[in-house]
Amino acid sequence: MSLNVGFVGTGGFTRFHCNLLTQMDDVNIRAFCATSLNKAERAASEWDGAQGYDGIHAMLDGTKLDAVYICVPPMAHGEAERALIERGIPFFVEKPVGIDLDLPSALLESIQAKKLITSVGYHFRYMDSTQRALSMLGERTLGMGLGYWMGGMPRVPWWRKQDGSGGQFIEQTTHIVDLMRYTMGEAVEVYAAYGSRVMHLVEEGVTTPDVGTVTIKLASGAVATLSNTCILPGGGRIGLHLYTDQGVMELTKESLKDTGKSTVFEYRNQTNPYACAHEAFLHAVRTGDTSGILSPYEDAVKTQAIAVAALRSAQAGAPIRLA
Ligand SMILES: NC(=O)c1ccc[n+]([C@@H]2O[C@H](COP(=O)([O-])OP(=O)(O)OC[C@H]3O[C@@H](n4cnc5c(N)ncnc54)[C@H](O)[C@@H]3O)[C@@H](O)[C@H]2O)c1
Repeated sequence: MSLNVGFVGTGGFTRFHCNLLTQMDDVNIRAFCATSLNKAERAASEWDGAQGYDGIHAMLDGTKLDAVYICVPPMAHGEAERALIERGIPFFVEKPVGIDLDLPSALLESIQAKKLITSVGYHFRYMDSTQRALSMLGERTLGMGLGYWMGGMPRVPWWRKQDGSGGQFIEQTTHIVDLMRYTMGEAVEVYAAYGSRVMHLVEEGVTTPDVGTVTIKLASGAVATLSNTCILPGGGRIGLHLYTDQGVMELTKESLKDTGKSTVFEYRNQTNPYACAHEAFLHAVRTGDTSGILSPYEDAVKTQAIAVAALRSAQAGAPIRLA
């Protein structure tokens, strides 16, 4: 079955997703909406048969779509999701699902009431290495996790603003929070310390912290510490290290490295996790079988709850219990 898809947002990641979708069979990129008609039409002009619109309602009225991809900055969520839920159109939404927990929680209620197919862009779950780690963890006792998102500051203008992105932990490190939940289980308490060391002094308009570390107690009794910074001049470590009774498992974007007592194995990813996420979502839209979607909206809201609690903890200087 051929599917017509539309996009909300015309930025860097919309282009990234379009480039992947265009390589898939029976997927037609049909519509774009953006903050201006001009931007939407410019994006549409790159794809045969696509149309640009100046808003979500105009897009949904003007082109019949089977699914929509929402790729907007964290502070811009809400209107598109509400429109799609109302019309019962499945959507794939980029992480994070918002800058707070109130909006995602309210949207989730409506999504559940409609039993709408959703998928969130937590692509680390779809890595071969993650799936291998999950099967290996079945034979091991997990003690603790150490996670990292160390790098520089992305150049998109909204990222540096607390009320635009929610800050690095909510916007970026959310991938590692999600990977932690996926491999280590649910969290019960978070305690965070954030600081502003460099970026507000060297760049205009920076209101987000640029260093942070978050300690998390898990329901299993395991513990984790996830740290991030965006002060580096180049790239840094990104990943999650799992400390088990049989050695250390290091999950990164490229591979799983498993260091035992006297052995080291490295399993490199063979497939593209973003493409796997698209395939799972589009299969669900075609057939109603959602079993391949590893991050439905409902699950992503739990990841968001941890990231938002971390911000609250850093602001309050006290641990926060998760409901
Ligand atoms: N999964 C990943 O690995 C990954 C990687 C990069 C970005 N992302 C996510 O994708 C999202 C978009 O990032 P980007 O890099 O494309 O940003 P971007 O700044 O390049 O593009 C954002 C686009 O959204 C548009 N926009 C803003 N408010 C809007 C609104 N209310 N309605 C419609 N359009 C609106 C902007 O005009 C722009 O076209 C972010 O949430 C980001 O976290 C995910």
